[in-house]
Amino acid sequence: MNETIKNATEKFAALLEKQLARVEMMKSQKDFLDYSKLDTIIIGVCGGDGIGPAITASAHKILEFLLADEVKAGKVEFRVINGLTIENRVKANKAIPDDVLEELKACHVILKGPTTTPRAGDPWPNIESANVAMRKELDLFANVRPVKVPQQGIDWTFFRENTEGAYAVGSQGVHVNDDLAIDFTVTTQEGSERIARAAFDYAKKNGKTRVTAVTKANVIKTTDGKFLNICKEVAKEYPEIDFDDWYIDIMTAKLVDEKRRTGFQVVVLPNLYGDIITDEAAEFQGGVGTAGSSNLGKRYAMFEAIHGSAPRMVAEGRDKYADPCSIIRAAVMLLNHIGYGDEAAKLERALDICMYEEKKLVITGRDTGATGDEFAEYVMDTIKKL
Ligand code: IPM
Ligand code: MG
Repeated sequence: MNETIKNATEKFAALLEKQLARVEMMKSQKDFLDYSKLDTIIIGVCGGDGIGPAITASAHKILEFLLADEVKAGKVEFRVINGLTIENRVKANKAIPDDVLEELKACHVILKGPTTTPRAGDPWPNIESANVAMRKELDLFANVRPVKVPQQGIDWTFFRENTEGAYAVGSQGVHVNDDLAIDFTVTTQEGSERIARAAFDYAKKNGKTRVTAVTKANVIKTTDGKFLNICKEVAKEYPEIDFDDWYIDIMTAKLVDEKRRTGFQVVVLPNLYGDIITDEAAEFQGGVGTAGSSNLGKRYAMFEAIHGSAPRMVAEGRDKYADPCSIIRAAVMLLNHIGYGDEAAKLERALDICMYEEKKLVITGRDTGATGDEFAEYVMDTIKKL
């Protein structure tokens, strides 16, 4: 074997070892954490960087307000986690510095602001995205992204697989030589089964009648083919729910087809397709700034805005005018997840009033509009009037 192939093969072998170890880790996992059995639910508030700290602080204030009695009774504790900034990550040369990871792991659920994702050509090293790393480190395998436009009959919930696919070893592809670079995509039995079950369980619990799997199994035959087959198998366990499957290209088109798109309810799909299509889907309800997202695992859960860290707004001194709506939507999901459904419903209602109905304050991202903090006050005043 020539030297080039030998080097690349060694790198591939190391990836295989890590992925096989991950499979064993998944197999050893028990049930989902039951928050009702905890004495104290610890909520980590991790601002991230860019506009993250500003918008996360607004959402944090609202959560403290809604859960004030719980905090007093010791049932809920908030912990602010600083340090997930691009500067610290560069200094540690790690997607998540060790001390930050330790703090994150001491929580049960996390509200997270956006983090800057390095890419080639940036002034800092091209380290892995903190989002992607956190999803992997905390094994947050289900990225749940709801999109609703009631007046158009749109009510979708995407279950994006969050730890595998093109992302699993996305920062560990192999530069074989100057002429050849290879990336890998990963599908596991366990990883696909758990996301498919999460989607069907959600459909069952929430009165949904259809689950749709989206892949490109006609071309990416091995990994997408496996993902689709597993979805088909899991579907058999839920005979009361209809199952169909689409390819990602035509699915992307059908989301803009007003007649067809209202037929989709719960959509389950591999990581990269989920990443792409949830941005498209969010656009129908007003853009990524309006959508919240949850990242669920068996032990941990993380809730985040689905937009980026907008460093330009910070450079121009406009971070206090950044729109906190997306992370407040994520806070709604967090409340629901830990069993505070009434508080979640109140916050959602108030947010709808402030964003779409009453609109007493408007956020423009500049000093022509309200600050995120003023908007948070507006939301809390609206809750008091409900
Ligand atoms: C998302 C984002 C991330 C992703 C980026 C920031 C790494 O686009 O949460 O959808 O690709 O998953
Ligand atoms: Mg994305």
